[in-house]
Amino acid sequence: MNASFADMLRKASESPKALSVPELARLLAAEDEGERRALHAAAYAVKVRHVGRRVSVRGLVEAGNVCAKDCLYCGLRRSNAAVARYSLAADEILHVAEVAKARGYASLVIQSGEVESDVHTRFVEDVLRRIAPLDLGVTLSLGEQTEDVFRRWKDAGASRYLLRIETSDPAYYAKLHPAGHDWKRRVACLETLKRLGYQLGTGVMCALPGQTPEMLARDIAFFGEIDADMLGMGPYIPHPDAPLGVAPEAPDDAARLRLGLDLIAVARLHLHDVNIAAATSLQALAPDGRERGLLAGANVLMPNLTDVQWRAGYQLYPGKPNLDESAEDATAALERSVASVGESILWNARGDSPHFRRTMR
Ligand code: 5AD
Ligand code: SF4
Repeated sequence: MNASFADMLRKASESPKALSVPELARLLAAEDEGERRALHAAAYAVKVRHVGRRVSVRGLVEAGNVCAKDCLYCGLRRSNAAVARYSLAADEILHVAEVAKARGYASLVIQSGEVESDVHTRFVEDVLRRIAPLDLGVTLSLGEQTEDVFRRWKDAGASRYLLRIETSDPAYYAKLHPAGHDWKRRVACLETLKRLGYQLGTGVMCALPGQTPEMLARDIAFFGEIDADMLGMGPYIPHPDAPLGVAPEAPDDAARLRLGLDLIAVARLHLHDVNIAAATSLQALAPDGRERGLLAGANVLMPNLTDVQWRAGYQLYPGKPNLDESAEDATAALERSVASVGESILWNARGDSPHFRRTMR
């Protein structure tokens, strides 16, 4: 490791947002295992300073795979006729929420494809009102919506929203999405969510064809500019029924995983006190991918609590792990995986983003 790399790590560890975009890009292009070990160790130390060796958990419910979008990388894109579409009934979502609560999850993430309609808005409102007595921290990940819809869902009990920007580069966004997908609207949604007082989550994929370390560095700077409270980032995994495909120089699984871990580490070093999830796609690339995410600076895990009968229907990418794992097994596996890296789970705690708590004071 050369001296300037070590200097950058020191500077970034001392205070948030200390590095320029070229410096962030240099960290993302770590050249050997020595540099990468130092990068991860520095990020881990920053994490421990802010949240300790403790992992916040959220129960994930995949509420439906119907989607109006046609993202070129995603297995659930509306043009993929091979997918059997499903939508959980309100009772089924409520049931998962009750299971989550009984198992010690104090937070729930409700995720689905993007649907914009009055019926859907009212459905989600109804679900949120019925979940409210359980007193869970509720995150929605339901795509782009109007300000009115975001407000209604907040009034009905949601407190956090995840909407990955996918890339902070509008021209690159246009390469990853067909016509009718509007980067500006996505940014406007993030700004609206922030203004409405949601804890704001965003993120990007890495290892995409044509993506460079400079682009990922700008993405990380963007997370700071939009004042994100939470991040979800993971490697792109090519889907056979999605047209984005792979470039000739495509990285192998090991390289995708490496980049996913480095991205977490550099984001932690740049933003310090945000919640960072170890994405499931890390686990799809290696059995211990999640644990390695924790050691690179992530502090949130989101085990899937959706009934196993629906799991195969929600495949953004192939090789999704835990297709037949029950909620009970997921919880036990989680305990083991977190203990294996010397950390412990914060059961019965909402695990709000420290960044949000600090900036909202
Ligand atoms: N590989 C990895 N992640 C994907 N996503 C969508 N398709 C893929 C894929 N093929 C991610 C997107 C989206 C999130 C829900 O899943 O970033 O925002
Ligand atoms: Fe729909 Fe999300 Fe897949 Fe895009 S990434 S097609 S919005 S489910």
